[in-house]
Amino acid sequence: ALAEHMAYFDRLVADDQRIEPRDAMPEAYRKTLIRQIAQHAHSEIIGMQPEGNWISRAPSLRRKAILMAKVQDEAGHGLYLYSAAETLGVDRSELLDKLHSGQQKYSSIFNYPTLTWADVGAIGWLVDGAAIMNQVPLCRCSYGPYARAMVRVCKEESFHQRQGFEILWTLSKGTDAQRAMLQDAADRWWWPALMMFGPPDSGEKATEGHTAQSMAWGIKRFTNDDLRQKFVDMTVPQAHKLGITLPDPDLRWNEERGHWDFGQIDWDEFWRVLKGDGPCNAQRIATRVAAHEDGAWVREAAAAHAEKVVARAAQ
Ligand code: ACO
Repeated sequence: ALAEHMAYFDRLVADDQRIEPRDAMPEAYRKTLIRQIAQHAHSEIIGMQPEGNWISRAPSLRRKAILMAKVQDEAGHGLYLYSAAETLGVDRSELLDKLHSGQQKYSSIFNYPTLTWADVGAIGWLVDGAAIMNQVPLCRCSYGPYARAMVRVCKEESFHQRQGFEILWTLSKGTDAQRAMLQDAADRWWWPALMMFGPPDSGEKATEGHTAQSMAWGIKRFTNDDLRQKFVDMTVPQAHKLGITLPDPDLRWNEERGHWDFGQIDWDEFWRVLKGDGPCNAQRIATRVAAHEDGAWVREAAAAHAEKVVARAAQ
């Protein structure tokens, strides 16, 4: 029977159909999805912090309202993603424990600080821009609940990207000091944004990685380097529109390839940040753990309420 189930799984993948929670699946497929979806969910909720830092300092009431809505969207994305992970037979409390104890990762990008208001714009433009590039293909991921969650997440991310660009566009039309702030933010966020796509596919800095297997399973649709290139190609003309430079002397249009060439990414920095040694890792986890502990009473109240509902229904 197991062989039959697995043949069914292979057929679904080969036909580009969706795998649903009730379907049999290889244990390694389930594990890799839990790893990726949990890491994705953790990134959404840790990602609330760098921008949350600016809610009380947004330059106008309108900017503040937009930023609050955006940060709430990130919380919502975390919730869809933890729910999607739960369909694979794990509990979100277990996933949160693994985040807090450092056993599961979140995106490298959220370990960098937001020093000025322009950073809020740069996060929307570059970080959410990179996130969309990576997540639109995930709408076609072979695992149904993850793919469906991504549809709404991507719509919201597109709005986030536009609001980030609009913040920067406004700064680009401002004073010299505002334009300098914009340039400084782009200088600091450019390389970390390119690292978001993960380690390179080939070359001396490539690692074993999950890409080949995840592509065979229809989880990933493109390699890390392919998505990174698409992102660079999309973003360079936008930087020109903003009237800024990007901090890469090797960036130039390659007529033959029909793509922008770009310089070497500092992969040592990437692995250092992943190991916990980025500018804000300790602060991010400490803030997250404190928020979790402060929220214990909410979880207890929700559980007590759920018990009452069950007890009432049984009467
Ligand atoms: N930050 C932290 N860890 C990363 C990153 C990153 N930017 N990129 C890769 N890694 C980790 C992988 O998790 C993996 O580690 P593990 O084996 O311990 O889990 C290792 O580096 C090797 O990378 P890959 O083989 O490329 O791993 P994978 O196939 O999972 O691809 C990718 C990485 C592209 C990030 C994939 O997991 C993905 O698409 N995730 C969903 C999107 C997501 O998580 N976005 C979060 C940021 S966007 C946002 O929240 C706004």
